[in-house]
Amino acid sequence: MSTNEVNNDDRNWSDFRTRRWRHSRGLRSMLQQIRLDATDLICPIFVSHGENVRVEIPSMPGQFQISVDRLGEEIKEIEQAGLPAVILFGIPEHKDAQGSGAWHDNGIIQQAIRRIKEISPEMVVITDVCLCEYTDHGHCGLVNETASAAGRESLPAGYVLNDETLASLGQIAVSHARCGADIVAPSGMMDGMVTTIRRSLDAHQYEHVAIMAYSVKYSSAFYGPFRDAADGAPQFGDRKTHQMDFAESRQAMREARLDVQQGADFLMVKPAMAYLDMIARLHAGFSEMPLVAYNVSGEYSMVKAAAEKGWLNERETVFELLTGMKRAGADLIITYHAKDVGKWLKQMD
Ligand code: PBG
Repeated sequence: MSTNEVNNDDRNWSDFRTRRWRHSRGLRSMLQQIRLDATDLICPIFVSHGENVRVEIPSMPGQFQISVDRLGEEIKEIEQAGLPAVILFGIPEHKDAQGSGAWHDNGIIQQAIRRIKEISPEMVVITDVCLCEYTDHGHCGLVNETASAAGRESLPAGYVLNDETLASLGQIAVSHARCGADIVAPSGMMDGMVTTIRRSLDAHQYEHVAIMAYSVKYSSAFYGPFRDAADGAPQFGDRKTHQMDFAESRQAMREARLDVQQGADFLMVKPAMAYLDMIARLHAGFSEMPLVAYNVSGEYSMVKAAAEKGWLNERETVFELLTGMKRAGADLIITYHAKDVGKWLKQMD
């Protein structure tokens, strides 16, 4: 026997060759369990006040603040990319201590929903239900001992008041439903928000409008670019008394269970990349619930920045990240990459 010849008897590995599974492109595609589809994706839109506005957001290349009169072209592009749904965030002209612009009949989101439903009745319209973009202090609710709320001595000044905020959230959800929203998505992490919103919707005969609860929302540095984009950074303090601590995982199960009990139709984990374990745990623990992962602004901007520098291949990176979120157990993904992915998937057909 020549010395070059493989001597099978000398093999010291277990003799199964896993590489057979990966031998050809065809085999690899047969064995894929996870396939990203445009119908998994939800496309965020930042709706701005003003006319003829389409301004790129500096910290989120490829994302724009768009005025209501320019929504037509955006919606057409989203349809052409094969995406079934949008989630709306508003940048109002005026802010006040109560965030009253959030439930105004002719508020920015209310106008946007009506416009989108005119252009594209089939598009699923999801709305963010929170006060942070509408309050002058930038908090997600009424704040203790400011002009927005009478002081409560039992709580620190600056505290985001829970029960006082709930009524506003109910009002916002109903005003979105009245304009034709299909799903309302409360993002403020107030206790009892799903119950309040469900009751308010039902009381106004919007029992068909669904609730996508931001159930497991961590207090995260990855929201940085969004706060620029939506002009919703808190003017003082932070969101750590309502958003979750990222060093904690037990509370997530309790948060999700409460939202299910309160009538949520969808659960969400946010952000996604550093929280795949939480996606997997919610998927296992609440398998009957549709689960949404929010691939947030900072996660998007990191990829864009590295791609601009030529350090990462954008398309391959995005497919890997989003596929990982689905593999972890997400059914749906809110992502700023949605339009690009929809277009890429069409090119690959
Ligand atoms: C609050 C809200 C935020 C995001 C979605 N809804 C900001 C926050 O909680 O501070 C973040 C989304 C992102 O970073 O992409 N209305």
